[in-house]
Amino acid sequence: MPATDWKEVVAPDERALFDGLAAVLREVQREKAKAHGSTSRALHAKGHVGLKAEVTVRDGLPEWARVGPFAAPATFKAWLRLSNGGAVHASDKAPDVRGLALKMTGVVGTKLIPGMEAAPTMDFLGILTQSMPFKSPADFVGVVRAANGPKLLALPRILGTLGLGAFRVLGVLQKGMAARVDSYVEQPFFSVLPIRWGDAAVKYGFVPVNPPKPATPVTNEHTRFADDVRARVTAAPLKWTLRIQPFESEAQTPIEDPTKVWETPWLDIADVTVPVQDPGTEQGRALSALVESFSFDPWHAPVEFRPLGAMMRARSAAYRDSTIERKAAKEPTPEQW
Ligand code: HEM
Repeated sequence: MPATDWKEVVAPDERALFDGLAAVLREVQREKAKAHGSTSRALHAKGHVGLKAEVTVRDGLPEWARVGPFAAPATFKAWLRLSNGGAVHASDKAPDVRGLALKMTGVVGTKLIPGMEAAPTMDFLGILTQSMPFKSPADFVGVVRAANGPKLLALPRILGTLGLGAFRVLGVLQKGMAARVDSYVEQPFFSVLPIRWGDAAVKYGFVPVNPPKPATPVTNEHTRFADDVRARVTAAPLKWTLRIQPFESEAQTPIEDPTKVWETPWLDIADVTVPVQDPGTEQGRALSALVESFSFDPWHAPVEFRPLGAMMRARSAAYRDSTIERKAAKEPTPEQW
């Protein structure tokens, strides 16, 4: 059994702060809606493709990991959305954060979001790095705001938010975003931030398994990621292992410091399979449109999997505001698969 003495630090006035940060992101979203439409997300606005997937829970998991939908071997219907991280729908050539979001449906148990306790879903969201350079949600949102405002004001605004720490943050950010990525299906994705897993706390990740080669070469750099997925998934299934790594101690695996990579061993818990399908057909495009309408949110989860830490709690307000603003669809049932 991993350590269970993890602790969150909750500031007494944080709720008002997080609502304010969510409102800043919503302003960015409204501004970008002029170019991208009212259904565009505040962040991760450009979805490359939406796919049907299945999540098969492994047999023989240790007792501590057998929680909620992972309590026993089972297969869940799911959807996958692959996205660029920015608030604008930029070319895939531009440096950016890359996102992978998975939504399982048919998940029983009480869910976290008030008013949505009976929702049938559980979501997992990842990016390509294991840490983020921001220590606090205010730093994160400050940089997002500056990056999406007038160019001349960007650096002064970032300096105003982060002080001299700005140069460290910008250096790490630039390095992460500039790394050349040819394909989403050859890269591991990470939660960066922890969630509860029953009594334990874990971070999670997705590791690709034997990615098939593209059946045709990808030539358009602007739509590289959608084209790459299509060139592969029309010929063979895409597979990832979903894995978790446990909290060990505040020193080794801090809950409240997103800049720190956890080094604890990974445990494989489920296999994610995207069956052969063609996102380029009329049916495939309708599926992508359906997935675009969903909201992927780490707070879409049973109560045993509560997201942990200030950065996660700030996300709660931000995702809710973004999805209300763009009138996202209700949580989908297995029948919609
Ligand atoms: C470092 C950890 C984080 C990861 C791994 C992450 C990942 C993601 C991913 C994959 C998406 C796309 C979801 C989709 O496909 O619909 C997304 C969307 C979004 N993220 Fe994050 N994110 C992180 C941190 C944050 C933080 C700290 C905030 C704000 C405080 C934030 C705000 C948002 C918003 C507003 C959206 C759009 C939500 C929607 O309209 O559906 N994220 N994020």
